[in-house]
Amino acid sequence: MLRQLCIATKNEGKVAEFMEMLRDLPIELHSLAEFPGIVEPEETGKTLSANARLKAQYYAKLTNMPCLADDSGLECAALNGAPGVLTARYSGENATDKSNIEKLLSDMKFCIRRNCCFRCVIAVSLPEGKILNEVEGICDGLLLHEEVGTAGFGYDPIFWSKELHMSFGEATQEQKNAVSHRARALKRLIQIWKKHR
Ligand code: IMP
Repeated sequence: MLRQLCIATKNEGKVAEFMEMLRDLPIELHSLAEFPGIVEPEETGKTLSANARLKAQYYAKLTNMPCLADDSGLECAALNGAPGVLTARYSGENATDKSNIEKLLSDMKFCIRRNCCFRCVIAVSLPEGKILNEVEGICDGLLLHEEVGTAGFGYDPIFWSKELHMSFGEATQEQKNAVSHRARALKRLIQIWKKHR
Protein backbone atom coordinates (compact mmCIF):
# COMPACT_ATOMS: atom_id res chain seq x y z
CA MET A 1 0.00 0.00 0.00
CA LEU A 2 1.10 3.59 -0.60
CA ARG A 3 2.63 5.49 2.30
CA GLN A 4 1.65 8.95 1.04
CA LEU A 5 -1.24 10.17 -1.10
CA CYS A 6 -2.35 13.60 -2.29
CA ILE A 7 -6.08 14.06 -2.88
CA ALA A 8 -5.83 15.95 -6.15
CA THR A 9 -9.03 17.95 -6.46
CA LYS A 10 -9.68 21.66 -5.94
CA ASN A 11 -13.20 20.85 -4.69
CA GLU A 12 -12.98 21.11 -0.90
CA GLY A 13 -16.18 19.13 -0.38
CA LYS A 14 -14.63 16.19 -2.24
CA VAL A 15 -11.35 16.49 -0.31
CA ALA A 16 -13.27 16.24 2.97
CA GLU A 17 -15.33 13.28 1.63
CA PHE A 18 -12.21 11.40 0.44
CA MET A 19 -10.20 12.16 3.59
CA GLU A 20 -13.02 10.93 5.81
CA MET A 21 -13.22 7.59 3.97
CA LEU A 22 -9.45 7.10 3.85
CA ARG A 23 -8.59 8.20 7.36
CA ASP A 24 -8.38 4.70 8.90
CA LEU A 25 -5.77 3.55 6.39
CA PRO A 26 -2.07 3.79 7.24
CA ILE A 27 -1.50 6.42 4.56
CA GLU A 28 -0.25 9.97 5.11
CA LEU A 29 -2.89 12.13 3.37
CA HIS A 30 -2.18 15.44 1.65
CA SER A 31 -4.27 17.84 -0.42
CA LEU A 32 -3.69 20.46 -3.11
CA ALA A 33 -4.14 23.15 -0.43
CA GLU A 34 -0.45 22.48 0.31
CA PHE A 35 0.42 23.34 -3.31
CA PRO A 36 -1.33 26.66 -3.97
CA GLY A 37 0.75 27.46 -7.07
CA ILE A 38 -0.58 24.54 -9.11
CA VAL A 39 -3.30 25.52 -11.61
CA GLU A 40 -5.97 23.07 -12.80
CA PRO A 41 -5.21 21.19 -16.06
CA GLU A 42 -7.58 21.35 -19.02
CA GLU A 43 -9.85 18.32 -19.07
CA THR A 44 -9.32 17.39 -22.70
CA GLY A 45 -10.10 13.67 -22.39
CA LYS A 46 -12.97 12.13 -24.35
CA THR A 47 -13.96 9.84 -21.46
CA LEU A 48 -14.23 10.10 -17.67
CA SER A 49 -11.39 7.59 -17.43
CA ALA A 50 -9.10 9.68 -19.67
CA ASN A 51 -9.78 12.81 -17.61
CA ALA A 52 -9.27 11.06 -14.25
CA ARG A 53 -5.94 9.64 -15.49
CA LEU A 54 -4.87 12.94 -17.02
CA LYS A 55 -5.54 14.80 -13.74
CA ALA A 56 -3.87 12.15 -11.54
CA GLN A 57 -0.75 12.11 -13.73
CA TYR A 58 -0.59 15.92 -14.00
CA TYR A 59 -0.85 16.51 -10.25
CA ALA A 60 1.44 13.60 -9.34
CA LYS A 61 4.20 15.04 -11.54
CA LEU A 62 3.84 18.57 -10.10
CA THR A 63 3.49 17.55 -6.43
CA ASN A 64 6.08 14.75 -6.74
CA MET A 65 3.69 12.60 -4.74
CA PRO A 66 1.26 9.75 -5.60
CA CYS A 67 -2.03 11.48 -6.48
CA LEU A 68 -5.68 10.43 -6.54
CA ALA A 69 -7.97 12.25 -8.99
CA ASP A 70 -11.57 11.66 -10.05
CA ASP A 71 -13.93 12.60 -12.85
CA SER A 72 -17.69 12.22 -12.73
CA GLY A 73 -20.61 12.60 -15.06
CA LEU A 74 -24.36 12.19 -15.30
CA GLU A 75 -25.57 9.86 -18.06
CA CYS A 76 -29.17 9.87 -19.33
CA ALA A 77 -30.37 6.79 -21.23
CA ALA A 78 -32.78 8.82 -23.38
CA LEU A 79 -29.90 11.07 -24.50
CA ASN A 80 -27.61 8.11 -25.33
CA GLY A 81 -25.45 8.76 -22.27
CA ALA A 82 -25.27 12.57 -22.49
CA PRO A 83 -24.21 14.81 -20.85
CA GLY A 84 -21.54 12.21 -19.81
CA VAL A 85 -18.02 13.58 -20.02
CA LEU A 86 -19.47 17.03 -20.81
CA THR A 87 -21.54 17.13 -17.60
CA ALA A 88 -19.69 20.10 -16.05
CA ARG A 89 -19.85 22.17 -19.27
CA TYR A 90 -23.23 20.98 -20.56
CA SER A 91 -24.65 24.49 -21.01
CA GLY A 92 -21.43 26.00 -22.38
CA GLU A 93 -18.07 27.37 -21.31
CA ASN A 94 -19.43 29.59 -18.51
CA ALA A 95 -21.84 26.95 -17.26
CA THR A 96 -23.21 27.12 -13.71
CA ASP A 97 -25.12 24.42 -11.81
CA LYS A 98 -28.30 26.41 -12.52
CA SER A 99 -27.73 26.77 -16.28
CA ASN A 100 -26.73 23.09 -16.56
CA ILE A 101 -29.89 21.96 -14.77
CA GLU A 102 -32.05 24.22 -16.96
CA LYS A 103 -30.54 22.84 -20.16
CA LEU A 104 -30.85 19.21 -19.09
CA LEU A 105 -34.47 19.63 -17.95
CA SER A 106 -35.26 21.31 -21.26
CA ASP A 107 -33.51 18.58 -23.34
CA MET A 108 -35.38 15.90 -21.37
CA LYS A 109 -38.70 17.73 -21.33
CA PHE A 110 -40.57 15.32 -23.62
CA CYS A 111 -38.67 12.15 -22.64
CA ILE A 112 -40.71 9.51 -20.90
CA ARG A 113 -37.62 7.34 -20.28
CA ARG A 114 -36.04 9.06 -17.25
CA ASN A 115 -33.36 6.46 -16.32
CA CYS A 116 -29.99 7.99 -15.60
CA CYS A 117 -26.88 7.34 -13.54
CA PHE A 118 -23.99 9.18 -12.00
CA ARG A 119 -20.66 7.57 -12.89
CA CYS A 120 -17.33 8.30 -11.21
CA VAL A 121 -13.86 7.16 -12.24
CA ILE A 122 -10.97 7.48 -9.78
CA ALA A 123 -7.36 7.12 -10.92
CA VAL A 124 -4.18 6.98 -8.84
CA SER A 125 -0.86 7.93 -10.44
CA LEU A 126 2.77 7.87 -9.32
CA PRO A 127 4.95 10.98 -9.94
CA GLU A 128 6.60 9.35 -12.97
CA GLY A 129 3.20 8.86 -14.61
CA LYS A 130 2.48 5.19 -13.90
CA ILE A 131 -1.22 4.60 -13.22
CA LEU A 132 -1.43 2.38 -10.15
CA ASN A 133 -5.20 2.01 -9.92
CA GLU A 134 -8.38 2.91 -11.78
CA VAL A 135 -11.82 2.18 -10.33
CA GLU A 136 -15.40 3.09 -11.19
CA GLY A 137 -18.55 3.64 -9.15
CA ILE A 138 -22.13 3.98 -10.40
CA CYS A 139 -25.31 5.27 -8.80
CA ASP A 140 -28.64 4.66 -10.55
CA GLY A 141 -31.55 7.07 -10.56
CA LEU A 142 -34.32 8.80 -12.43
CA LEU A 143 -34.15 12.33 -13.80
CA LEU A 144 -36.85 14.44 -12.17
CA HIS A 145 -38.94 16.99 -14.09
CA GLU A 146 -38.10 19.77 -11.67
CA GLU A 147 -35.78 20.51 -8.75
CA VAL A 148 -36.61 18.80 -5.46
CA GLY A 149 -34.62 19.77 -2.35
CA THR A 150 -31.75 22.19 -1.91
CA ALA A 151 -28.97 20.03 -0.44
CA GLY A 152 -25.81 18.95 -2.24
CA PHE A 153 -24.39 20.48 -5.40
CA GLY A 154 -24.43 20.17 -9.17
CA TYR A 155 -27.34 18.11 -10.47
CA ASP A 156 -28.37 16.79 -7.03
CA PRO A 157 -31.84 18.45 -6.94
CA ILE A 158 -32.95 16.76 -10.21
CA PHE A 159 -31.49 13.29 -9.47
CA TRP A 160 -33.90 10.87 -7.75
CA SER A 161 -31.95 8.01 -6.18
CA LYS A 162 -33.47 4.56 -6.74
CA GLU A 163 -31.85 3.37 -3.53
CA LEU A 164 -32.65 6.27 -1.24
CA HIS A 165 -36.15 6.86 -2.70
CA MET A 166 -35.56 10.58 -2.57
CA SER A 167 -33.73 13.21 -4.58
CA PHE A 168 -30.06 13.86 -3.76
CA GLY A 169 -31.25 17.40 -3.06
CA GLU A 170 -33.24 16.02 -0.13
CA ALA A 171 -30.57 13.61 1.15
CA THR A 172 -28.15 14.31 3.98
CA GLN A 173 -24.43 14.02 3.22
CA GLU A 174 -24.37 10.74 5.13
CA GLN A 175 -27.27 9.28 3.13
CA LYS A 176 -25.69 10.36 -0.15
CA ASN A 177 -22.30 8.92 0.85
CA ALA A 178 -23.90 5.52 1.42
CA VAL A 179 -24.86 5.18 -2.26
CA SER A 180 -22.96 7.79 -4.27
CA HIS A 181 -20.90 7.00 -7.36
CA ARG A 182 -17.82 8.64 -5.78
CA ALA A 183 -18.12 6.78 -2.47
CA ARG A 184 -18.60 3.49 -4.36
CA ALA A 185 -15.51 4.04 -6.52
CA LEU A 186 -13.47 4.89 -3.43
CA LYS A 187 -14.75 1.82 -1.56
CA ARG A 188 -13.57 -0.34 -4.48
CA LEU A 189 -10.16 1.29 -4.34
CA ILE A 190 -9.87 0.69 -0.58
CA GLN A 191 -10.88 -2.97 -1.09
CA ILE A 192 -8.13 -3.40 -3.69
CA TRP A 193 -5.53 -1.77 -1.48
CA LYS A 194 -6.49 -3.89 1.52
CA LYS A 195 -6.34 -7.05 -0.58
CA HIS A 196 -2.85 -6.27 -1.89
CA ARG A 197 -1.43 -5.03 1.37
P1 IMP B 1 -16.61 16.46 -11.40
O1 IMP B 1 -15.99 15.47 -12.30
O2 IMP B 1 -16.79 15.97 -10.03
O3 IMP B 1 -15.94 17.78 -11.49
O4 IMP B 1 -18.10 16.72 -11.87
C1 IMP B 1 -18.49 16.91 -13.23
C2 IMP B 1 -19.90 17.41 -13.25
O5 IMP B 1 -20.76 16.43 -12.64
C3 IMP B 1 -20.15 18.73 -12.51
O6 IMP B 1 -21.11 19.48 -13.25
C4 IMP B 1 -20.74 18.29 -11.21
O7 IMP B 1 -21.62 19.27 -10.70
C5 IMP B 1 -21.50 17.01 -11.58
N1 IMP B 1 -21.48 16.10 -10.45
C6 IMP B 1 -20.47 15.26 -10.06
N2 IMP B 1 -20.78 14.60 -8.96
C7 IMP B 1 -22.02 15.03 -8.61
C8 IMP B 1 -22.87 14.71 -7.52
O8 IMP B 1 -22.55 13.90 -6.62
N3 IMP B 1 -24.05 15.35 -7.50
C9 IMP B 1 -24.44 16.24 -8.44
N4 IMP B 1 -23.68 16.58 -9.47
C10 IMP B 1 -22.46 15.97 -9.56
